[in-house]
Amino acid sequence: MDKRKIILDVDTGTDDAMAIIMAALSPDIELKAITCTHGNLPLPNTVDNTLRVVEMLGIDVPVYSGCAEPMAQWLRPGRVMNPRRQHQVDSDGRVSMIHEEHLPLPEPTIRAEEKHAVSFLVDTFRKEKLTLVAVGPATNVAMALRMDPSIADNIEELVVMGGGVHCSNATQSAEFNFYLDPEAAEIMMRANCKITVFPLDATTSALFSIKDGEDIKAVGTEPAEFFGDLVIDFCRRMEAIRLSNTDDPNQFECAIHDALCILYLIDPKIATDLRRQSAFVDFSGGYADGALLVDTRSYMELMGETYIAYKADKQRIKDLIIEILSGNA
Ligand code: BDR
Ligand code: CA
Repeated sequence: MDKRKIILDVDTGTDDAMAIIMAALSPDIELKAITCTHGNLPLPNTVDNTLRVVEMLGIDVPVYSGCAEPMAQWLRPGRVMNPRRQHQVDSDGRVSMIHEEHLPLPEPTIRAEEKHAVSFLVDTFRKEKLTLVAVGPATNVAMALRMDPSIADNIEELVVMGGGVHCSNATQSAEFNFYLDPEAAEIMMRANCKITVFPLDATTSALFSIKDGEDIKAVGTEPAEFFGDLVIDFCRRMEAIRLSNTDDPNQFECAIHDALCILYLIDPKIATDLRRQSAFVDFSGGYADGALLVDTRSYMELMGETYIAYKADKQRIKDLIIEILSGNA
């Protein structure tokens, strides 16, 4: 089988690191490059974290640094509370606890490429047909599509982690990635190519526990140890910011959001409820700012070719992760 050639746009980040590991180690995927955006942490940290993961894996994959701020969101005073610090501290001072400033890996000795991530995306998609996986705020992707909308013809498939149809995590209506750059998310969702979205509905339907983290660690390789520790640490942080509904540490759970986008490319059956729907992102600056909106009117013609994943198969996902980390995939 031909390998799926992909470019991965990340804001590393715990679950972004898991996505990088899966893309790098799966024999079904050729990871051509990684582009970094602002998001879970400020851009210098997401680039640094990405380089740490790439170096730990010992892979020869170029890393590009991209946009440090959303396209337009911060221009309107008051639209986002304390925008320049929102990736670090929420109103209760707790967001910084989700993603540590630096992943627990040695400082990287490798460097990011000179070229800007957006220029790289434009130049590459002008020449080559590839799959684009976007698991951070959509700024880099949207900027590239604005610079040259025709690059969408060469996006074989755009796989996105973002939004939530029936759930949210950044505001009462918006998911984190889409909320951090709503205009960019809407531009990305209007790209003229096949788009598959893994919103929170799917990613939180396949939660991982501390026991799952230990099972992954038991594979015994360095990437497996690291992946398993990320799961365990993520579970504890979720509990710490009270996203878990239990006091029993054995039952703490976390979503491994971004990893699902890569695993879906390896085994599409991990998405158990995938619906073709017209989807939009609100950027009005009101209560629904950054929310993923799905048109459920059956009499309306479908816009674009967009698929939304509502559920994912936890056991299949876990088996696949262990298979890839064991080198048996
Ligand atoms: C998304 O937001 C980030 O915190 C994660 O890396 C993931 O991409 C989940 O809402
Ligand atoms: Ca991410």
